[in-house]
Amino acid sequence: MLPLTLDDVRLFLHVVAATIWVGGQLTLAGLVPALRAAGADVPRTAARAFNRIAWPAFAVLIVTGAWNISAERAHVHGAYTRTLVVKLVVVALSGITAFLHARATTKTGLAVFGALTGITALGALLLGVMSAG
Ligand code: HEM
Repeated sequence: MLPLTLDDVRLFLHVVAATIWVGGQLTLAGLVPALRAAGADVPRTAARAFNRIAWPAFAVLIVTGAWNISAERAHVHGAYTRTLVVKLVVVALSGITAFLHARATTKTGLAVFGALTGITALGALLLGVMSAG
């Protein structure tokens, strides 16, 4: 069997947090019709409960992301750096739009920021996979 390394632990923590931030949002979005059928307030209650898991996961992504950069500093030049910078902008947009989505009070605000946070979270995931190695 292969030995478990510190790099494995670093990437495991980063990917577990990414599954919660990205997969959790998509799963919650998919559950909204069923939650709505259970009661008008149920989607908001579920979203609040999800936020209590999602924001700690986002914090883990930032901490382990900084750890990734430090561990991969030999690669941090040229196209890798440009990909990383685009990813960091997309990650920031994902956090900002998730925050605005949680605070939205109108249907339009909820829909627009909900869609934006989902799209940017998926974009960050794709850019993360592109810089894996
Ligand atoms: C929504 C937030 C984020 C998502 C969804 C995400 C996702 C991912 C994924 C899926 C990987 C590939 C892991 C693998 O090798 O198997 C990755 C790698 C990486 N991420 Fe993130 N990430 C996020 C935030 C961040 C942040 C905030 C930083 C920097 C501060 C960062 C820096 C990196 C670096 C440098 C790698 C390459 C690691 C390596 O090859 O050893 N990520 N990310």
